[in-house]
Amino acid sequence: MASRIVVLGSANVDLVVRQPRRAEPGETMFGTSFQTGPGGKGLNQAVAAARAGGDVAFIGAIGDDAFGAQLSEVLDAERIDTRGLRVTALPTGVAQITVTDDGENAITVVAGANETAELRDPERALIAEASHLVVQLERPEALLIEALRHARAHGVTTVLTPAPARAPIDELLALADVIVPNAGEAALLAGVADAEEAAVSLSRTVPTVVVTRGAEGAVVAQRGEIVSRVPAAAVTAVDTTGAGDTFTGVLVARLAQGAAQADALAAASAAASLTVTRPGAAASMPTRAEIDAALATRWHPHVLTPPRAEAATR
Ligand code: RIB
Repeated sequence: MASRIVVLGSANVDLVVRQPRRAEPGETMFGTSFQTGPGGKGLNQAVAAARAGGDVAFIGAIGDDAFGAQLSEVLDAERIDTRGLRVTALPTGVAQITVTDDGENAITVVAGANETAELRDPERALIAEASHLVVQLERPEALLIEALRHARAHGVTTVLTPAPARAPIDELLALADVIVPNAGEAALLAGVADAEEAAVSLSRTVPTVVVTRGAEGAVVAQRGEIVSRVPAAAVTAVDTTGAGDTFTGVLVARLAQGAAQADALAAASAAASLTVTRPGAAASMPTRAEIDAALATRWHPHVLTPPRAEAATR
């Protein structure tokens, strides 16, 4: 079966200020740098999957403005199919991002064109022909539900990153084959603080739950059990923006290429670790060669599978 990944999601221009620490309310402080770059959780995941060797189409919306033209050029340069990229009367989405010296980020998004909610026939056709549909929560919920339902009707594997964190999203969860929340998002959705307990709880509704935990790697649950623990490489974080998007994009790219789940998870984790060592969102994402080199040299690719789960899958 042809393996084509369709990412339906947001495209933003990221406006990034680096500063030593967060400003207090009412405080004016000096930053150390300002940069703009391509972002948006949807565009980021599309770029991550394409750089990892995936055959990727992007369904998104931009404005008829300079930022929109910039994002369109990025997608073309990454050889991503943009037949589903729509130019709207609304301005291109922007994200105001603060990155502090510890590499952590704080993000405020103004959605603009990403609010466009209609799924047109050409976009429906792209989804119907895909092997995987990947969505996040920066587009209108009704659009996401329509796209996921359409994917399900055509036997397309559905992947949801439930970010930015929002709950309840029961209808979306019911339409997802795989979800990739971070620990905070998983806790919010499951109503349980512990990441492993949240993964187990969510896996009673969603077939595969991958909870990303930053420097602590990731944990995977299926059918109410932890089935894998995925380590993360020890790196010094420069900018964590887009790490989760990298993880999801690379995971799906490797699965679409036919990799075993454990190998796809190891590649996703290695890629996310590489991303945080570089500034920017889409700009920081590694190529397939870089991921393979990391796996071969400074990465310990053993995904740990608890004995109970091993026995259950034999
Ligand atoms: O996940 C990171 C992304 O979130 C940024 O690129 C920003 O645009 C927001 O969508």
